[in-house]
Amino acid sequence: MNFDEGLKKRRDRADAVLERYLPAEDAVPGKLAEAMNYSIRSGGKRIRPILMMESYRMFGGRKTVVEPFMAAIEMIHTHSLVHDDLPAVDNDELRRGRKTTHAVFGEAIGILAGDALLNYAYETALQAFRQKEDAQLVVEALEILARETGLYGMLGGQSVDVENDKNGTCALSKETLDYIYLHKTGALLEAPLMIGAVLAGAGKDETESMREIGRRIGLAFQIQDDILDVTSTAEELGKPVGSDTKNDKTTYVTLQGVDNAQRTVRELTDAAVKLLDSIPGEKEFLREFLIRMASRSN
Ligand code: IPE
Ligand code: IPE
Ligand code: MG
Ligand code: MG
Ligand code: MG
Repeated sequence: MNFDEGLKKRRDRADAVLERYLPAEDAVPGKLAEAMNYSIRSGGKRIRPILMMESYRMFGGRKTVVEPFMAAIEMIHTHSLVHDDLPAVDNDELRRGRKTTHAVFGEAIGILAGDALLNYAYETALQAFRQKEDAQLVVEALEILARETGLYGMLGGQSVDVENDKNGTCALSKETLDYIYLHKTGALLEAPLMIGAVLAGAGKDETESMREIGRRIGLAFQIQDDILDVTSTAEELGKPVGSDTKNDKTTYVTLQGVDNAQRTVRELTDAAVKLLDSIPGEKEFLREFLIRMASRSN
């Protein structure tokens, strides 16, 4: 099987897992469930559940306990996108090739759908306790999920990121920018790599190495996002280009220029892959996946 076939198989599996956990729309409150499902079913690359599955398998995991967590991480990621697009945040009307949730359902339902996705992620992840698994591993996985999403993770990064809006001539330092990227984006890429490892019973050192891979890949992924915001098209990305310029943001592109930013993406990816290579386990697909994440065009 070549890489693209392997990717399709994994994306289909992530979609199928997610589909099993989505809320029903035919009961009250149908409108909220519809808005949640609209944002999730719009597609998306499903990078985070795929990373989790690959990490789980790499450390020998072969059961289904990872599945509620795969669904949960994609729900949390989608919550972050729905809120990121709101008028008070990035104010964007295109996401995953469709109108954003608030543009279709109105701002109030957009806010509530984002909240509900975040909460539903935990309702979903908690279902892992129903499986006859080591409950301690599930607790550890939940702790990672909660921490990487919250105040000291993605939401912390988003909060400093909005302070970065409309800052005119006062560019942020690279240090502040790195804090933002490692949290708003890196945290949700660290989490699946770590959770997959923990659920498969990996040791502390191995789990820490997966965090470090996530950090590097996370930073690279957000820098590539900055680059695509100035070099790509809305058709290709499925979201608007020029969003960062519109919001007057300091980015790696404004600090370093496109060429240097591309070099940084390559260096961070090389470092992540090198670290992955030092860990035993079946990781051929994961290795190629990390490399392609860096050179992605959408
Ligand atoms: C978009 O993430 C938000 C960033 C962290 C840059 P993705 O590029 O993974 O978005 P989807 O899930 O494929 O839509
Ligand atoms: C994404 O940052 C971070 C989160 C959504 C958590 P961006 O604002 O650059 O992401 P896009 O470009 O809208 O996907
Ligand atoms: Mg944003
Ligand atoms: Mg945005
Ligand atoms: Mg962006």
